[in-house]
Amino acid sequence: MRIAVFCSGKGSNLQAIIEAVKRGEIKAELSLVVSDNKDAYALVRAREAGIESVVVEPKNFSTREDFEKKIIEHLEKKKIDLVCLAGFMRMLSPNFVRRYRNRILNIHPALLPSFKGTQGVKDALDYGVKITGPTVHFVDEKMDHGPIILQSAVEVKDEDTEETLAERIHREEHKIYPLAIKLFVEGKLKIVGRRVMILE
Ligand code: GRF
Repeated sequence: MRIAVFCSGKGSNLQAIIEAVKRGEIKAELSLVVSDNKDAYALVRAREAGIESVVVEPKNFSTREDFEKKIIEHLEKKKIDLVCLAGFMRMLSPNFVRRYRNRILNIHPALLPSFKGTQGVKDALDYGVKITGPTVHFVDEKMDHGPIILQSAVEVKDEDTEETLAERIHREEHKIYPLAIKLFVEGKLKIVGRRVMILE
């Protein structure tokens, strides 16, 4: 199985996936990193790990369709089976989702369906929840919506700032994202309606 990871920024989840592949926990090839931002630190991580990367910037395309067409070309060239969104700050079109139906995963820094969108950590903190944490889910046509694979609870402390809370959430992300990918690669995820069963 061949995996592509899509990133826009720091790429700490990419790093966790790189390490899980290296340790042999995820038995797949991390074949490609795709970024929509040429300055993403994720690209440095890819280079250091010897993984091929491509930058596809929306500003160079007149439509989202053309932008995604270019990405799909790269995915097809590399015969990618699984797309992992890891801090990719862009919605994929229904057309893209259809093309890779049930083969796109995402990590979100809140317990879905709460606090969708780009400010999941801040929104949870501002709302005053006592428990939050990351969610790994399949991607469907709606934002932060597809069937949930794994979640992890993180306690919100009185003294938390967005930064301290985000750091503890990230630590959990780095455990559950590689684990969800491992389960996918081993064929252990079965989608039944909105539920994802984890097979023995
Ligand atoms: C993570 O918090 C993830 O939940 C969200 O974007 C952030 C990406 O962080 N989707 P990184 O680039 O992997 O460090």
